[in-house]
Amino acid sequence: MKKFLLILTFVFLGCEKESNQIVIGFFGALTGTEATFGVSSKNGITLALEEINLAGGLLGKKVEMKSYDTLGSLDETKLSVERLIKTDHAVAVIGEVASSRSLVAAPIFQKLGVPMVTPSSTNPDITKMGDYIFRVCFIDPFQGEVMAKFASQSLKFKTAAILRDSQSQYSMGLANYFIKTFTALGGTILADEKYISGDIDFQPQLLKMRKKNPDFIFVPGYYSEVAMIARQSRDLGFTGPLMGGDGWDDLKNLTAIAGNSINGSYFSNHYTLENPDPEVQKFITVFEKRFGVKPDSQAALGYDAARIIFDAIRRKNSVDTKKIRDGLAETRNFKGITGTISINQDRDAVKPAVVLQVKNGNFSFVETVGP
Ligand code: PHE
Repeated sequence: MKKFLLILTFVFLGCEKESNQIVIGFFGALTGTEATFGVSSKNGITLALEEINLAGGLLGKKVEMKSYDTLGSLDETKLSVERLIKTDHAVAVIGEVASSRSLVAAPIFQKLGVPMVTPSSTNPDITKMGDYIFRVCFIDPFQGEVMAKFASQSLKFKTAAILRDSQSQYSMGLANYFIKTFTALGGTILADEKYISGDIDFQPQLLKMRKKNPDFIFVPGYYSEVAMIARQSRDLGFTGPLMGGDGWDDLKNLTAIAGNSINGSYFSNHYTLENPDPEVQKFITVFEKRFGVKPDSQAALGYDAARIIFDAIRRKNSVDTKKIRDGLAETRNFKGITGTISINQDRDAVKPAVVLQVKNGNFSFVETVGP
């Protein structure tokens, strides 16, 4: 009996050593005011994983995900990354959603030589951290330009006020890129106010803005604060629209808190549920069946990020981190849910954006803007 147990232990240890699995990592905020970002992305990755495993896996192995909640904190982000690389030996990692956290994670991946693919961090500086850092989304200089052109050329707006999050690299950067194009097109910025994520009272800033009577307020923040800002701006009598970027994308929470006050406002995003492409519609159906909610852009980007990693591993026929890096860099014309993904020399994806309008409790498609 003892002998048998001993053999069993050896067999077990042997199996462990010759791993039959490929470990992919994920880190994102799964709790807190930005929980939707992490939960949605993780669901998108989970779906991609389940699909590939059902189809026989990758290089004959099963793909497994290790994931960590960054709690929306920079310190926890660093710890998550260390664990994924040193303890879990992930061969490639997807994360973070928010730019500020991707910016602290990227140097660790670069130093340790493991590819990081951020599904949705749009700040341009992230991929500049080195040749192991990639993204599958567009960047904020483009997104800011899209919204500035839309405000100036499509809506014929002349004056704007800005309300941005001074502690978010995403918010600060996107505001700057927006202002650059909007003023170049002849627009005027009447006010440029700041808040800090977690704030709940925006009335002092909104009161200052209201006096100047701008055509619209540009709020490049995340959905929790944007929803409160929308409500308080209406309470103070501001009637124009709010405009913003992809950070708005949580229909449920945005409309639950903002109610009607967010109706008529516009933001740029990575994808729309209204895209008639059969593959996009199939993804939406399958995702909703699996998770009980329609996939937002973070879910679609998580799915795309996982699939370009699988594609790189398959093309390189290897799970060596350097080879996966090379495979990612060589990604061209990969048909994703959020558009066709080609990785350029800066390791960014060059793709179109969509402009959406909040309308009757929905995000309604307005237009697609090419890169
Ligand atoms: N682009 C945002 C950032 O860089 C994150 C985000 C992406 C939020 C997509 C919502 C949807 O911080």
